[in-house]
Amino acid sequence: MANIGRFFGVGVGPGSPDLLTLRAAEILQTADIICIPRSSDKNDSVALKVAKPHISSTAEIVEISTPMVRDKEILNAEWQSGAQKIAKYLKDGKNVAFITIGDAMLFSTYTYLLNKVQQIIPDVSVESIPGVTSFSATAALLNRALAEGNEKLAIVPAIDDPSELKPILATFPNVVLMKVANKYEQILDILEELGLQDKAVFMSKLGYPDQFYTRDLNSLRGVKREYLSLILVKQEGF
Ligand SMILES: C[S@@+](CC[C@H](N)C(=O)[O-])C[C@H]1O[C@@H](n2cnc3c(N)ncnc32)[C@H](O)[C@@H]1O
Repeated sequence: MANIGRFFGVGVGPGSPDLLTLRAAEILQTADIICIPRSSDKNDSVALKVAKPHISSTAEIVEISTPMVRDKEILNAEWQSGAQKIAKYLKDGKNVAFITIGDAMLFSTYTYLLNKVQQIIPDVSVESIPGVTSFSATAALLNRALAEGNEKLAIVPAIDDPSELKPILATFPNVVLMKVANKYEQILDILEELGLQDKAVFMSKLGYPDQFYTRDLNSLRGVKREYLSLILVKQEGF
């Protein structure tokens, strides 16, 4: 039986191919199999677009279904079948890299897949390669600190009840709101209620050719927002 291959989780950074780490580029050059998340039939994998310039021409590209649904049963079944696909390649002795946007360990399907791959092959050798997160790249683009000195920073996915954001926004001097596209208007109402509407910046598709950002959050009311959108809020303003 072939030696079991290594499993890599590669954070490819926020969007621009030159924001990958050297280690990420090295793994993409050498892995036998590159697994890419595929959320729908329509969209190309955004992670693949970012990683493509670094991927070896001999690597096999394999799609792993990662549907954008919240039903735990459906997700579990998809992750299980993705993990089985990955485990089969590993058992054949192939080195497999799963690519993921931003950082590998933050809101990524990679950590769910990893868990399931480890259940199938408990002694599999794993390396997780961190990537530049969307929000650190946003702060860098704006030349503004995410947090300084003893300031606190909260990182919050804004997908559930936006009213839960109120105490967080009222307490933390710096807040990163991720996954803001669907609840945008409610989030804006809360920012206005707390007098923070002018202390925030909206960023969409950072690093992609159609990157867009604005400090006039009101101008986007009723406008379709991209899934790759976030809001940074700073009590002292952006
Ligand atoms: C599933 S999470 C992935 C987070 C990612 N692992 C990271 O480290 O940034 C997806 C959310 O990340 C944010 N995001 C990721 N890439 C982005 C980009 N290029 N521009 C703006 N927001 C982005 C958005 O809030 C999006 O809804």
